[in-house]
Amino acid sequence: MSNNYTIAPRVLIETYGCQMNVNDSEVVLAILSKVGYVLCKEASLADLVLINTCAIRDNAEQRILGRLDFFRLEKKRRPSLVVGVIGCMAERLKEKLLDHPVVDLVAGPDAYRDLPRLLEALRAGDGKQINTLLSHEETYGDISPVRMDPNGVSAYISIMRGCNNVCSYCVVPYTRGAERSRDCDSILREAREAIDAGYKEIILLGQNVDSYKFGEVGFAQLLARVAELSPSVRVRFSTSHPKDMKDEVLLTMAAYPNICKHIHLPVQSGSNAMLEKMRRRHTREWYLERVARIREIMPDCSITTDVITGFCGETEADFEDTLRLFRQVRFDAAFMFQYSERPGTLAQRHYPDDVPPEVKTERLNRIIALQNELSAESNRRDVGREFEVLIEGFSKRSTADLMGRTSQNKACVFPAAGHAKGEYVTVRVLDSTPATLICEVVE
Ligand code: SAH
Ligand code: SF4
Ligand code: F3S
Repeated sequence: MSNNYTIAPRVLIETYGCQMNVNDSEVVLAILSKVGYVLCKEASLADLVLINTCAIRDNAEQRILGRLDFFRLEKKRRPSLVVGVIGCMAERLKEKLLDHPVVDLVAGPDAYRDLPRLLEALRAGDGKQINTLLSHEETYGDISPVRMDPNGVSAYISIMRGCNNVCSYCVVPYTRGAERSRDCDSILREAREAIDAGYKEIILLGQNVDSYKFGEVGFAQLLARVAELSPSVRVRFSTSHPKDMKDEVLLTMAAYPNICKHIHLPVQSGSNAMLEKMRRRHTREWYLERVARIREIMPDCSITTDVITGFCGETEADFEDTLRLFRQVRFDAAFMFQYSERPGTLAQRHYPDDVPPEVKTERLNRIIALQNELSAESNRRDVGREFEVLIEGFSKRSTADLMGRTSQNKACVFPAAGHAKGEYVTVRVLDSTPATLICEVVE
């Protein structure tokens, strides 16, 4: 590659949004490393800034617009700075982002292989560059991500891209395109590389992992193959869709001790009327049956969820159905959001966004309060029990304490006493808060 740099050009990659974006940033770094870029952590030293964006809710996009204002100042000081917007917001807004004075380059989630060419064209003086083509095949399967995760314990591996569901509120099918599963062998190769590099936990990622299918290999078989690579390496995955989650996957989880006993199973609403309008293609009853089956097959499995308050037409009675479902399931943790209308989605085109903002917020606060109680109860039930935890690093509060997670994905803190990140220890739970188990090491 010809360039004007006398030393290697430095790239800063800022990542917003979900775990898939974190992994995509690692793929982008791998692609740019091949053409000579080195990673840099400070905006003031970067030659190129890439902002890997999220479009899931309006506030996610507002935050990114705020970041662009920050880089506008930086660029005033150093006009040679190149600023690129990549990821889901790039895909959603396309050319509109190029109108932003600070943005030189826009690339969507399936266009990352084209980044070196786009950057070269920019440097050659061809003006602002854009590629937002979506693909039916791209999985970046042959690219080994360059890991940026500072803890060095958990490695994300994307097993599929895109989404074929059309949940009516959701922008993801438009920003990430059609669902495609990645070659099973390339997933196993990447997992093997991560294990050889010392990673202790593999986290398999997809918008709907249960619909993974590559040739004869479905998600249950893939899980088993990854788990068999090393009994001392944990396997996690996200996200499961209640309509597709099969008993076969549950039985596979139960059969392998190193597959973590945690399922993230977004419910979105406890009201059948809302689920129908959301086009989730499952009912409240179906969801509860799946939960019962998880508990039957794995009594020690934790269950977490996502929920939206104030979706189009949601009545107080619909919302109470959600509260009731939360009490019935007793989720261990939840991500809770108020509905944010996304341009171009089915909901935006067909249903008025008619729940007043103050009602959305009030319902959100009520469900957060309920979940806090449920999380506190779930953690209290663990007091006195012992768990094997994988240590991720120091606790947030002090370097005298370590933080690790149980198989159920609960955060434990305990005195360091000579242990270090990446090790497994057995702890006993002495006390708890809604967010943390306070423990001592027993071996
Ligand atoms: N594929 C995953 C979810 C990905 S998005 C699944 O189907 O479960 C993560 C979460 O963001 C969703 O589960 C949903 O709760 C929330 N979300 C998505 N679109 C939203 C919107 N328009 N407003 C508010 N929350 C939304
Ligand atoms: Fe969005 Fe639904 Fe796909 Fe999840 S399954 S990414 S909520 S469309
Ligand atoms: Fe956001 Fe895109 Fe992930 S919209 S949540 S970054 S798939």
